[in-house]
Amino acid sequence: MAAPPSSFGGRVGDGGVTRYTPAMRVLSGIQPSGQLHLGNYFGSIRPNLESVGDKNESIFFIADLHALTTVQDPKELREFRREALLDYLACGFDPDKALIFFQSDVPEHAELMWILSTVTPVGLLERAVSYKEKVEKGISASAGLFAYPVLMAADILLYDSERVPVGKDQKQHVEITRDIAMKFNNLYGDTFVIPEPVIRAEVAVVPGTDGQKMSKSYGNTIPLFGDEAKAKKAIMGIATDSKGAQDPKDPKTSPIFQIHALFLSKTGAEELAGEYRAGLSYGDAKKRLLETYLEVFAPMRKKREELAKKPKFLEDVAAEGAAKARAVAGKTMDRVRKAVGLR
Ligand code: ADP
Ligand code: TRP
Repeated sequence: MAAPPSSFGGRVGDGGVTRYTPAMRVLSGIQPSGQLHLGNYFGSIRPNLESVGDKNESIFFIADLHALTTVQDPKELREFRREALLDYLACGFDPDKALIFFQSDVPEHAELMWILSTVTPVGLLERAVSYKEKVEKGISASAGLFAYPVLMAADILLYDSERVPVGKDQKQHVEITRDIAMKFNNLYGDTFVIPEPVIRAEVAVVPGTDGQKMSKSYGNTIPLFGDEAKAKKAIMGIATDSKGAQDPKDPKTSPIFQIHALFLSKTGAEELAGEYRAGLSYGDAKKRLLETYLEVFAPMRKKREELAKKPKFLEDVAAEGAAKARAVAGKTMDRVRKAVGLR
């Protein structure tokens, strides 16, 4: 199905008339499941924010219904939800340019999930790698965790999303979404736009302080916000090999360099690599990374502190986002209900 005209925000064209231009509708979801780290920032938030432009119509949502599969402490979930919105806004998300909302504020997600689940073969979900990995990690094998990709399909299909930028770990979920959408379209007639996953291949895996992939499950993260002393401790504690202070170092194998390079331009990174090869000590390399980290994130930290004092503003952003999202989701649900015979 071709994507229908823009129905929220939109690009205001001649005389305030919202015109549909063949821009892409791009949708991204983030789970509010803990404090953000540099892996989340460089691997997900920064590329997502960079994709917000005049050409594309961007939709972001905080996947709090998904988070219920792992965060089962209400106090904690409340805090994580609030923090996720604060984090996004502090990192530069502009609610005037793109849509942001909480998934649970738009009940159509759960409704569509149910309808989609009735056409989803169990075998398709049994092949989902992320389910198996999560259960192996000790997360309870609930029906919700198993059906997680169906909720993700509902998230994507509700907004006629054409492009879904995801990390490699989520690609299979977008493929499952495509399968479910095609199955539904075959059975009930052309109803859903078939989305394309966009793999953020250009973003390398950000290493943690021990050199493995940075992940909250490995306890090797450098936090984006929060206590500065903790970030300092994490950066000064990045693992190194036993090379002496003045020995030449290989930048390619050093997590200090790999993390630092993410903050720099290509030439900046090449210059820094030269210094490593010329014998920059690991201690100095860490201090330089810490300086860069503090400098780059200082304005975002300040903004976050200011926003944290404005709960009413945060509520308004979320309420406005939810209202706009419901306007789009409601239209899709009309189409779906009609297609299946619930109208
Ligand atoms: P974690 O591994 O800490 O649980 P999540 O799975 O919640 O992180 O990741 C949320 C988003 O951040 C995903 O889109 C994921 O691809 C991205 N991301 C997480 N860790 C990294 C990393 N080390 N390098 C690049 N991207 C990452
Ligand atoms: N499953 C995604 C993650 O864990 C979050 C998510 C939920 C999502 N629904 C989505 C991402 C829809 C993109 C599109 O990172």
